[in-house]
This record gives sequence, C-alpha cells and structure tokens, in this order.
Amino acid sequence: MASLGKISIPHAPSSDLGLLRRRFDRRMQTRIGYNHRIASVLTNNASSVKQSLSERVIEEEAKVLVGTYARAPIVLLSGKGCKLFDPEGKEYLDCASGIAVNALGHGDPDWLQAVTEQASVLAHTSNVYYTIPQIDLAKRLVASSFADRVFFCNSGTEANEAAIKFSRKFQRFTNPEDKEVATGFIAFSNSFHGRTLGALALTSKEQYRTPFEPVMPGVTFVEYGNVQAATDLISSGKIAAVFVEPIQGEGGIYSATKEFLQSLRSACDASGSLLVFDEVQCGLGRTGKLWAYEAFGVTPDIMTVAKPLAGGLPIGAVLVTEKVAGTINYGDHGSTFAGNPLVCNAAIAVLDKVSKPSFLSSVSSKGQYFRDSLVKKLGGNSHVKEVRGEGLIIGVELDVAANSFVDACRDSGLLILTAGKGNVVRIVPPLIISEEEIEQAVEIMSQNLTVLE
Ligand SMILES: Cc1ncc(COP(=O)(O)O)c(C=O)c1O
Repeated sequence: MASLGKISIPHAPSSDLGLLRRRFDRRMQTRIGYNHRIASVLTNNASSVKQSLSERVIEEEAKVLVGTYARAPIVLLSGKGCKLFDPEGKEYLDCASGIAVNALGHGDPDWLQAVTEQASVLAHTSNVYYTIPQIDLAKRLVASSFADRVFFCNSGTEANEAAIKFSRKFQRFTNPEDKEVATGFIAFSNSFHGRTLGALALTSKEQYRTPFEPVMPGVTFVEYGNVQAATDLISSGKIAAVFVEPIQGEGGIYSATKEFLQSLRSACDASGSLLVFDEVQCGLGRTGKLWAYEAFGVTPDIMTVAKPLAGGLPIGAVLVTEKVAGTINYGDHGSTFAGNPLVCNAAIAVLDKVSKPSFLSSVSSKGQYFRDSLVKKLGGNSHVKEVRGEGLIIGVELDVAANSFVDACRDSGLLILTAGKGNVVRIVPPLIISEEEIEQAVEIMSQNLTVLE
C-alpha cells in the first residue's frame, strides 16, 4: 500500500502530543488507505498530477455516501477554539459551529476531560438501568429553567417528535371522555423543526415535505407573528399544541415579539392547548440568555433543546412541566441511546460553563459588537438590507442569493452559513469567539462583498 505520508494535526492538545500524533497517523492510514489505493490507481492511470488528500476524500465521498448533502468542498481534519484546519494545513475561522452546535468551540479542555474520563469508565448502558450523569444533567436542566422534568433523546428532530407525542398524550389523558380530542398542531411560516415525519410536518419549507407526503396530518401553518390568526385557530379547541421558535434560525434569523409569544401563551391557557418552544438552535446561551424564552417573559409547557447541549456529541432533550409529565406513562416513549453517560457528562461540562452569568453577558456584548461591526463595514453596500439577531445568532439579509458570498468567504478562510430563502447570511460562531476573531470575520466578509455585484 502506498503511504499517505505524514499527516500533521494542527493544534492537537499539547499533552502527549507525540503519542496522539502517532496514533492519529496510524488511524488515518487505515481509514484512508482504501481510498488512497483507489485514488492512486486513478491518478496513475489518468495523469501524473497528484491529488491532495482533500481531493481524494471528496472524490471517495461521492462514491459511498447517499447524496443528501451538497457539501462545501473542504475536508476538515482538526480544530482548536474557533479555528478549523484542513489536511493541507489551511486554517478556517469557524463562524458556523457545525450549524450552531460547537458552543465551546473545538477541543475545549473541560469538555475533553468530561468526555475522556467518562468514556474510560462507562459510555452506554441503555435506559433499562440508572446512570449518574443522566440524573445530574436532568437536575441541572430543571434547576436552570421553567421545567420540572426532562426526557432525553439524540437530536433536535427527535426532541420535537417526543414533544408531538407528549402533546397528543396530554390531550387524551386530560380529556378522557372527549370523542374529538384535540390532535391538531400549529406551526409558523419560516419554521424548521426537523426531518422526521412528525417534525417535518411542522416544517414550513414545502420542498422538504412534498417528496415524502403524506407526513403527519393535522398541521396548520400560520404567519409568524400573526397574533389574530394564531389565537383564532387556537380557540377552535382542535389544537393539541403550538410549536414556535422564539428566534427562527434556519428560517432566516427572525425574532418573535413579546406580544406574539404572550398572546400564544394566553390563547393556549384559555383553550387547553400546549405551548412548545423549539430552542434547538436558539437555546443554551446563544442569545445571551441561557434560554431564549427568558427575554420574552413567557414560559412554555414543553421546550425542545439539542444542538449545543453536548458540545458536538448527539443529544436532544425535552423539558416539560409536571402538568405534561404527569400524563406520560412507562412505555409511552423511549430511545436506546438517549441520555447515555458519555453524552450527559459532556453536556454537564457545556451547561456548567455556558450558564455562568459572566459567560452569558460576554455572549450579549460580543453579539452586539459583531452586529455593530457588520453594520459599520457592510451596511453601506446596496445589497445588504438588514443586520439582525440576538447575541451570537446573527443574520445579514441580502437582496440577492447569499451562496456566492458564503463560498467566497470560505475561500478566504471564513466559515459562515445561509438561511431563509437563501438570501440571508447566518453567523453562529462558537460562543467563545474573541473580539479579535470577530474583527477578522467582519474584515473577510467586507473584502468579499464585491462578489455580490
Ligand atoms: C429550530 C430547530 N429545530 C429542530 C432542528 C432539527 O435538529 P436536528 O438536525 O438535530 O434533528 C433544527 C436543526 O437545524 C432546528 O434549527
């Protein structure tokens, strides 16, 4: 087998660096050896031009993965803080956080310690048995929020599936004599709640839903912010629950108003519908509050959380009041992997760090600095319509498609995302980003504005 040569890992933890490097090199040799053999045959047959490791990985991905992702053409090998590195050593400033996931950036020492210590003791047991990190994490989530109890799962969409089931069960349990118990749901324009058939039914983008219909029936979409339309429908008595993102992420970084969420709360209270906040993207410190709902003076009956909770390991959580939890019985829902000790120990490290008041206030002030700098450096461009957001969930709305701009920024070493109808630049950096890195990000964006012409 031809050798891959030495792969250096930029910014590996300094302790045991040599050992780590040797182990990593061995693993990469094994992992990419097969690809490398094919790639070298292809290369030898085609020409003497040598492919980079990134090119080989991208070529092989197209042969073995189901084509669900239109990926950016870069391979990421390692990360430290807000920096990511490709195999050829190119550095990227991460303002995407793996879609609002890596709240503590890459390789946070406390997170790493929590993962490695727990992995060396116990990673998984199933929910047939009790484990300590799961209970510890649930206690922290309950103590830090409106909730009385927690259900764990593995992703945002699963958290919303659980919330759908809990809402239906709540309605059946509390209205046992009712022959036409409320089973309907309200979701809003620009909503995104996930890709499984229940959560997908609550997701507004038609092109995500139509190839898979019939999805879960009974969902009505109402314009985000339209108090009258929402309260009229809730008062019909047919609505089991209303699903709403206090700040919409995927939909284009739109924030609800206090009046809107407070009206939903009152209408749900009057009709017996449940109010579900999806904080999968906007929750856990991203807005500068631990939970986004804190800024609105409203609490939900159910809240779904996922992305940043375990700092990059898969986790979802459904936070509920006692009123809801009391209607759920053994066997009503479950998941093999959910809440295992490994992910829960990682999540404890994340939650403990993010929930510190000084950490949260730094997110608010850095978010303000980021938005102000964007307005200053980008605001003069005629294609930039608005800079909006809260804390470090920021949207820059353009009057043209944002993808060529996002691509150009990536070529210049900055990772950002699109949102909305493709015309919004979404900036969701690790919450630990520094002011210097914010300045660097804004500078790269400002230099790439020319591609909008
Ligand atoms: C608000 C919101 N809800 C749910 C989801 C689905 O989460 P997951 O991709 O973990 O299933 C997302 C993902 O982007 C989201 O932004």
